[in-house]
Amino acid sequence: MTTRRATLDDLGAIMALERASFPTDAWSDAMMREEILSPHGWYVVVEEAGHLVGYAGLRAVHGSRDADVQTIALAASARGRGRGRALLRTLLTEAARRRVREVFLEVRADNPVAQALYASEGFQELGRRPKYYQPDGVDAIVMRLDVAGWLAARGPDAVSAASAPAAVPAPTGTRTSEDRVNVGGSGSDAPTEDGFSDVAGVRERAAANEAGACT
Ligand SMILES: CC(C)(COP(=O)(O)OP(=O)(O)OC[C@H]1O[C@@H](n2cnc3c(N)ncnc32)[C@H](O)[C@@H]1OP(=O)(O)O)[C@@H](O)C(=O)NCCC(=O)NCCS
Repeated sequence: MTTRRATLDDLGAIMALERASFPTDAWSDAMMREEILSPHGWYVVVEEAGHLVGYAGLRAVHGSRDADVQTIALAASARGRGRGRALLRTLLTEAARRRVREVFLEVRADNPVAQALYASEGFQELGRRPKYYQPDGVDAIVMRLDVAGWLAARGPDAVSAASAPAAVPAPTGTRTSEDRVNVGGSGSDAPTEDGFSDVAGVRERAAANEAGACT
């Protein structure tokens, strides 16, 4: 199993997994593309035998003390063998590396597997957003993790991983969120030249980011 930074070249494979994992409320291609390229996004993928079998994303605005787990998903054939926990820990290590203090997320009330994973890593329920997930009308459970507490519970290896320069390096010669930082330069959510803030789904996504999100 290899974990590496996501690039735009992964978009097709990520979207195939996205639609299979979230059949009623999958993000659009445009939303996922902007997530991968966002200067505030940090997306990783998991590969096995050359096939993409998982992905996960963190939203961590530069300089902010909080971050959000945006999404995490594995191919059905790759679930239940610790890969989801490993992916989540990769995101949390990056959050710690960025000196984030609290990580938030939202999880469907009808998703006990994901809830169990988050709770076992130390996420605690903050509250519920009724009928948040549409069109299903399912509540969102908002959860929060204290990053210092998580690091302390994980021990010295986790602390040193969070002090390393880069938990998961980006592949060379590809487009990741760092390129967006270099090209855009503003580091803000202002509309960009390619007009991504005009995409309806992205506006919905931005609203979701106010309290954390995980489809
Ligand atoms: C949620 C998901 C990422 C978890 O990844 P995973 O690789 O299946 O989970 P892991 O094997 O790492 O298990 C982590 C924990 O999840 C829980 N879990 C995993 N499979 C479970 C199952 N079948 N039933 C109940 N709990 C389960 C357990 O708490 C487990 O910890 P344990 O092994 O110590 O008991 C994965 O199941 C998935 O992609 N689901 C579909 C997409 C999704 O729901 N994403 C979350 C959106 S918020």
